[in-house]
Amino acid sequence: MYELQEKFEPRIVGFLCRWCAYTGADLAGTSRIKYPPNINPIRVNCTGRVDPTLVLKALSSGADGVLIGGCHPGDCHYTNGNMKTLRRFKLLQNMLTQFGIEKERVRLEWVSASEGERYARVVESMTEEIRNLGPLNWKRMVEVTA
Ligand code: FES
Repeated sequence: MYELQEKFEPRIVGFLCRWCAYTGADLAGTSRIKYPPNINPIRVNCTGRVDPTLVLKALSSGADGVLIGGCHPGDCHYTNGNMKTLRRFKLLQNMLTQFGIEKERVRLEWVSASEGERYARVVESMTEEIRNLGPLNWKRMVEVTA
């Protein structure tokens, strides 16, 4: 007798800036570039609007990983929203580590509107990395650290 083992498929939430990464995702789609369907994109006006609590909320609500996709440095439509996010991101990674959560579960990537191929490769590599980490069981993590 053998058991059918279900293959783990990561659930990734993507907070994507409408001016760059979200448009890059659109381009990947319209160009029919293949990439894993594991990401649920959420359009935001700028990565500077992605409060760390939104990332924690996504993880505690069942996401196995979060991608923050923004404009390349110097290209932010709101001057320096992406640079503010970069600083917050480092703090967020420290916080995750203290919770016992692998910091690789959250990524910050710069993807321009013309980089559909790059967007696809980012999603592909993130999906693979989280697949290797396994599911994030937020409740278990919090109970163990409490
Ligand atoms: S407008 Fe894209 S990151 Fe700020």
